Amino acid sequence: MPEPTGPGRIRLVEVGPRDGLQNEAAEVSTDTKVALIEKLAEAGCSAVEAGAFVSPKWVPQMADSAAVLARIVKRPGVAYPVLTPNMKGFDAALAAGAEEVAIFGAASESFSQRNINCSIAESLNRFRPVAEAAAARGVRVRGYISCVLGCPYEGAIAPEAVREVAAALLEMGCYEISLGDTIGVGAPRETARLIDAVAGAVPTDRLAGHFHDTYGQALANIWAAWGKGVAVFDASVAGLGGCPYAKGASGNVASEDVVYSFARSGVETGVDLDLLLAASRFISEALGRKPVSRVANALAAADV
Ligand code: HMG
Ligand code: MG
Repeated sequence: MPEPTGPGRIRLVEVGPRDGLQNEAAEVSTDTKVALIEKLAEAGCSAVEAGAFVSPKWVPQMADSAAVLARIVKRPGVAYPVLTPNMKGFDAALAAGAEEVAIFGAASESFSQRNINCSIAESLNRFRPVAEAAAARGVRVRGYISCVLGCPYEGAIAPEAVREVAAALLEMGCYEISLGDTIGVGAPRETARLIDAVAGAVPTDRLAGHFHDTYGQALANIWAAWGKGVAVFDASVAGLGGCPYAKGASGNVASEDVVYSFARSGVETGVDLDLLLAASRFISEALGRKPVSRVANALAAADV
């Protein structure tokens, strides 16, 4: 079998402080969030998602995002994107100093309703002015699509539905579109087929993979996407995460596991695994539990 080909360097988008902490029952202080984000940037993550400007009634865990964003000591060359579902969120993010935002849609109508309280078409109408306002102010916009490999309410999702939303987000000016397996149901060959389908509308160098690890498939899906030319992957330190509007969605793939797997395979990540492990220990101790990372736990056990 020929060696699978893929990019020689990947970029990790660290989403733990947002996708991870948005789903934590325990209260995490603003100080802890700020320290976590700074440690992740220090570890070499070139993008650390720092919060979400969404309704505090819907997601109370992100209610202090303005304070978090204002207090981070930003490192040059590091992006600190925040989620902004509408103009209200965008205006608040801008006031807090955001230089990059993310709009987040879905390939499933039911999930769109549950997550952001509107249809897919309505969501695109809400995103368009955000993308326009961002472009006018030089703010970069990333796009997300949820439920690309399955929906907790509708089951199977057609790749064509994902392609359609991806094309709309690209047309709005998103510099990158992250394909989210929100409930972690997908498997590698489906992932490869999905990338093929979406690549008809969006070049693979504008795509990212966002895999939750509910069924233990995330790393395999990442490699499948890499084999198709995708070079950007979202991951969450200590495997934190989930989505409050997707029952059963567990954490994102652990950043430690992604960095280990690529580094050992000779693909650069730009991230220092030891410093990443320190960030993982920091947030795990703050939450009072072990990281959800095979690599972090194996290395900790080997150290004893
Ligand atoms: P809505 O109720 O349809 O909005 O919510 P509305 O415009 O009718 O406003 C209702 C209330 O919300 C008003 O307040 C607004 O001011 C307020 P009230 O008068 O009742 O006091 N409001 C806001 N407050 C703060 N920031 C805002 C904002 N907008 C309105 N931006 C909305 C629509 C999207 C706001 C709501 O449904 C919401 O916040 N949903 C939460 C979405 C969310 O954060 N989900 C988790 C992140 S997505 C995810 O995890 C998936 C991802 O990781 C990829 C993957 O894994 O698939 C990205
Ligand atoms: Mg997610």
